[in-house]
Amino acid sequence: MSKEKLRIAVQKSGRLFEDSISILKDAGISIDNGKEQLKASSRNFPLEVMYLRNGDIPQYLRDGVVDVAIIGENVLIEKGQDIIRGEKLGFSKCRVSLAVPKSFNYNGIKDLDGLKIATSYPNTVNEFLKEKGISADLHIINGSVEIAPNIGLADAICDIVSSGSTLFKNGLKEVEVMLKSEAVLAISPQISEERKAILEKLQFRMKSVLNART
Ligand code: PRP
Ligand code: MG
Repeated sequence: MSKEKLRIAVQKSGRLFEDSISILKDAGISIDNGKEQLKASSRNFPLEVMYLRNGDIPQYLRDGVVDVAIIGENVLIEKGQDIIRGEKLGFSKCRVSLAVPKSFNYNGIKDLDGLKIATSYPNTVNEFLKEKGISADLHIINGSVEIAPNIGLADAICDIVSSGSTLFKNGLKEVEVMLKSEAVLAISPQISEERKAILEKLQFRMKSVLNART
């Protein structure tokens, strides 16, 4: 039997982590708890799990350093348009939205023309605004984006909205939903034929899990 293993990237910490591990477990794949080691192998399936930062995963897939990943579609839309999108996995559902302070008298996207927008999703925002014929001044920050209007850094923000509680706590309101996202299986354009065969087995198992869940 071949010693070939499929290398899968999973978010190291954050909202996808638990559900990513659960779906692998439910697919009958046991992984030694390797969150500390950043890399773990399965005992009963030819799979090696790498725990990585969300935003780094598209580059790893592009380079072929990992073969597949469980990742939010929103991350692929932002930085991985060239990555193959496989099955939707039904968890980590969210929106990528524009939000403004509650006191902002918002009547439409034109109200954002020429304003400052803080975001971790510059490509997504740019594309959206371009389509609408709006230009804005983007401030790229990597986290805690919702604080930006309160500290005078920006007039509006664009970030992930899930429960809406972060927006609420920061006195913001969602005004435009740019896209909807959930976790997906992402596939490297460089995957070898041998590993593709392992991937097909993994996909078959994942599909059974997803069917059983609905
Ligand atoms: C994420 C995201 C939003 C928030 C949305 O931030 O950036 O801020 O969750 O979720 P909610 O609508 O359920 O409140 P996270 O807490 O992961 O931290 P970060 O922004 O510092 O990465
Ligand atoms: Mg946040």
